[in-house]
Amino acid sequence: MKIETILTPAELPALAQRDLRATACVVFDVLRATSTFVTALHHDAQAIIPVSEIAEALKIKKSESRIQNPESILLGGERNGVRISADGVDFDLGNSPREYTPEKVRGKTIVSTTTNGTRALRACANAQEVLAGSFLNLTATVEFIRRNNFENILLICAGTGKNKADEDVIAAGALAELLTARGDARPTISDPTEIALRLWLEAKPDLSAAVANAENARRLLAIPELHDDVAFCLQRDIFPLVAKMGVDRAIHRQTEL
Ligand code: MLT
Repeated sequence: MKIETILTPAELPALAQRDLRATACVVFDVLRATSTFVTALHHDAQAIIPVSEIAEALKIKKSESRIQNPESILLGGERNGVRISADGVDFDLGNSPREYTPEKVRGKTIVSTTTNGTRALRACANAQEVLAGSFLNLTATVEFIRRNNFENILLICAGTGKNKADEDVIAAGALAELLTARGDARPTISDPTEIALRLWLEAKPDLSAAVANAENARRLLAIPELHDDVAFCLQRDIFPLVAKMGVDRAIHRQTEL
């Protein structure tokens, strides 16, 4: 097994050109897109459709509403961290995982657009497998990777705006540690994966303190109603599920581990 890592969103355009047909990608946007999607799936959302642009989300909502009950399709996501209002439409949900309660999302399809996370998911959509990773479902994701014996793993850190996000790199390192911790053959790991592993090992004794200084954590911590999202997203393995992109390019809960 080979484990590579993309540390910054600046590498995403090149990724879209790469042949990923023999590569399983795990996308991390710990604060907060992938944590939010995992939470939504745990609370029985039907699927998440990740899209890059607001206009695309509005278009999908319109076209899907012709096929299924419009009330079963919710618009979610953020710009600058907060819920979107665009073209006279107020999105149903922001990007706080704590908003994605069973009452709100059970049975719903959520069309989501966020600044980095949904773009990262879209950039690797042609891969052999695309998984949404987070601390919330880290071990389940690792078990799925092990069980499927993927040869090439690519950890994708979605970042914050144009910048690297420490929390994504730390989570990628935590996953790499689990993958290298046991097994007969030690995986080959790239230099960026080594960097992620090192950052994780430094952060591990006090994850909250390590993440508190990261750009998006500082922004969220300063907004009273979003403050608690940071601690929520750093919880380990509370949702033991695999969040996997299907052939329909939507993220579903994988039932067969
Ligand atoms: C993103 O996709 O950039 C994020 O998840 C941003 C956020 O929710 O604060």
